[in-house]
Amino acid sequence: MLQTLKVDLLERSYPIHVGPDLLDHGELLTPHIAGCQVMIVTNETVAPLYLARIKRLLSEFDVQEVILPDGEHTKTLASVERIWDALLAANFNRRCTVIALGGGVIGDMAGFAAACYQRGVAFVQIPTTLLSQVDSSVGGKTGVNHPRGKNMLGAFWQPKVVLIDTSTLTTLPARELSSGLAEVIKYGLIRDEAFLSWLEANMVRLRELDDQMLTEAILKSCAIKADVVAEDETEQGVRALLNLGHTFGHAIETAQGYGVWLHGEAVGAGMMMAATLSRSLGWIDEKALARIARVIEAAGLPLHAPGDMDAARFLELMGRDKKVLDGRLRLVLLKALGEACVTDKVDKATLTEVINSFPRT
Ligand code: NAD
Ligand code: GLY
Repeated sequence: MLQTLKVDLLERSYPIHVGPDLLDHGELLTPHIAGCQVMIVTNETVAPLYLARIKRLLSEFDVQEVILPDGEHTKTLASVERIWDALLAANFNRRCTVIALGGGVIGDMAGFAAACYQRGVAFVQIPTTLLSQVDSSVGGKTGVNHPRGKNMLGAFWQPKVVLIDTSTLTTLPARELSSGLAEVIKYGLIRDEAFLSWLEANMVRLRELDDQMLTEAILKSCAIKADVVAEDETEQGVRALLNLGHTFGHAIETAQGYGVWLHGEAVGAGMMMAATLSRSLGWIDEKALARIARVIEAAGLPLHAPGDMDAARFLELMGRDKKVLDGRLRLVLLKALGEACVTDKVDKATLTEVINSFPRT
């Protein structure tokens, strides 16, 4: 059954539609398309699965497509240039619409391409991974990686609509589902202990692709994200909490080479590192830490860091985090289960000790 949430951003507000088989519902998509020119951006894995269905919805429009190679390592300016080249080659004007069909990598790149093309054109998100359905398609963060750091180039550019077809998850590999569950767990940890308990109780069914459970998890996650984004679109404050585990996680992704650890795997280990640090500061107790470890493990995510990364390597990469202000590292830590905060008060010795004593592969 179709359910709809809203991201409340005044004139840039937009709906998030969630339900099974939404890829057959053109009436949810076409009212949000500006002009008659549509560029669908997708990749070699997703195109054979879902591209024809989207095109069927758009028979009234001048539709072109860019099919990019797959993988986090392709999330580069060079790939975005291929989108711009396609838009220019097809003579697309300022009233065109760019549609992202795929996971977070495609969504982030297509959104960035739309943000810059002729200083900004309409953009639609059709996310097809759990991670993109619960996180990256909502909130308008777009961009690409740089060899020196994750998501270092980008723009805030909100979509006109987010179309979440939960049936697309049936083709998603199990490892990718687990990766998405990391971001779902994140919402429970930072904002909602009752949701965390719900996840603990239903993790097995979620991993078995129980439709009803997945829809509930997606709706809850999107509702929390929509709330946070409506309050703080450009991350001047509370939105930073959505980065729990990400400062550690982005360091892992950058050090290992993009795509070696999936984003959610790095975030899972990173959330465990942030929780361990919160425990060592006395903010959460041993019982809470054990609960966090159990739920991360139950989602099929790692509880260790890469064997070849010592504290010095972590700190070098974490020093480039976008939350660094005036040279001071700012970390998202847990005050309690369901309550997070940003702090720049962790001294280097404590951080080094926690990182070095964290389990390794
Ligand atoms: P991804 O886009 O690489 O997708 C994962 C894999 O699943 C890919 O191989 C993809 O081709 C494949 N795939 C996609 N849909 C499929 C389907 N329905 N069936 C079968 N295979 C499918 O990775 P992701 O986990 O979706 O996204 C990770 C990216 O999102 C990272 O780059 C991360 O930085 C970014 N991200 C952005 C935000 C944001 O706010 N913009 C938030 C979180 C993460
Ligand atoms: N994924 C973090 C954010 O959107 O702010």
